Amino acid sequence: MPSLVRVQGETEMPASEAIAEDVVRAVIDPAAYGDGVTALGAFRTLRSHNPLGRAELEGVDPFWIVTKHADILEISRQNDLFRSGERSTTFTNREADARVRQMTGGSPHLVRSLVQMDAPDHPKHRLLTQSWFLPQNIRRLEDRIRHIAREHVDRMAELGGECDFARDIAMTYPLRVIMEVLGVPSQDEPRMLRLTQELFGASDPELNRSGSTAGENPNAMAELQGIIADFFMYFKGITDDRKASPKGDLASVIANGEIDGAPISDFEAMSYYVIVATAGHDTTSSSTAGAIWGLCETPGEFAKLKADPSLIPGLVDESIRWVTPVKHFMRSATAPYELRGRKIAPGDWFWLAYPSGNRDEEVFDEPDAFRVDRNPNRHLAFGYGAHLCLGQHLAKMEMRILWEELIPRLASLEFAGEPKWAVASFVGGPKRLPIRFKLT
Ligand code: HEM
Repeated sequence: MPSLVRVQGETEMPASEAIAEDVVRAVIDPAAYGDGVTALGAFRTLRSHNPLGRAELEGVDPFWIVTKHADILEISRQNDLFRSGERSTTFTNREADARVRQMTGGSPHLVRSLVQMDAPDHPKHRLLTQSWFLPQNIRRLEDRIRHIAREHVDRMAELGGECDFARDIAMTYPLRVIMEVLGVPSQDEPRMLRLTQELFGASDPELNRSGSTAGENPNAMAELQGIIADFFMYFKGITDDRKASPKGDLASVIANGEIDGAPISDFEAMSYYVIVATAGHDTTSSSTAGAIWGLCETPGEFAKLKADPSLIPGLVDESIRWVTPVKHFMRSATAPYELRGRKIAPGDWFWLAYPSGNRDEEVFDEPDAFRVDRNPNRHLAFGYGAHLCLGQHLAKMEMRILWEELIPRLASLEFAGEPKWAVASFVGGPKRLPIRFKLT
């Protein structure tokens, strides 16, 4: 291990590329995202002192932490040089990686969805659903989504002036939308909600299957496998149904998809459902709750929005930037490369720190402030390049519709208790958001 150089504090500058262990831990530890400050503080330090630093920890393959907006874009847009397939696309340690490879016969991935693919397979699989997700296609869902949004505003009204917005509204609204999109019947939604929370909340004892703390569950891998098996079992029924009688929903497009003239395999179809069901849910609910958190914390922004509803698209983008629900994805290099004066070797592994890119002082004025009229807002919360979020238009549309229904009726809004962030270093956002409000 190279000598570790402390980079925390304003006075000490790094003499090398190595990042101090406590700073690395503040980036990878789910709890550092749960307190709302530790991870962001580590990113601030890294951006100013060691923007592309190297992390070395016992039991983990060395990796680079990419904290600058420009560098995240530079890596993300070169998908041939920085690939997703060869190594885990989420952070993992050597032991867990070895166990996954043993279970899968050599692959570092438990599922094979778009996120884990590279060219030539990736564009072929993406093409199956790409046009379905385009704004001109999803526009036809607008009325249906507005109906779901109104139901949620009515539910808020029934809650009588106080609720946990994260749990009561933000968690269920995008779930209903994505299940509608996939064609999952509403009676199965509680099951889907539990599964997505267990999958993404694997490191949060309040959300995971066994109630255990990150790193302290000896059965974590078996638990994860069980969750994925449950997803697969559920969606196998949907695939069989849509093959027999296709409908206009996304599940029918996936179930009957063909790659190179051959039907998509069951495993690949199932992986597709899992990525859509999971990526489309917790991310959007985190941003939705984040918008209300931001408005409670900065009443001046709430007043601005009330005075000028044309700022609603700005609220949508700012909440996505401010929360940045996807905390990281990993990439691995295929060829020598030079970036920010660092020499990259083939096989090197990268932590793309999206929350850091989205608070980069070189790109965002007052990056920690929540501003509904931030313009331009060049956030990279949806990633960039070939893997740019497929569901971004749907996510923005459903959030816009909810705010169009809620904001005009919302006469007042404030915290009614202490809000809490999820303990998650992959996908997360507000977990508890007690609010007091008046609806007209
Ligand atoms: C605010 C909400 C959302 C955020 C912040 C978000 C974020 C992201 C990010 C960062 C990626 C890039 C992955 C990579 O580079 O490896 C991604 C990919 C993806 N997202 Fe989203 N997402 C959101 C909503 C959605 C929704 C609503 C859906 C579907 C209904 C969705 C489906 C996908 C899919 C299928 C991919 C994989 C694309 C590919 O690899 O080609 N996402 N998302």
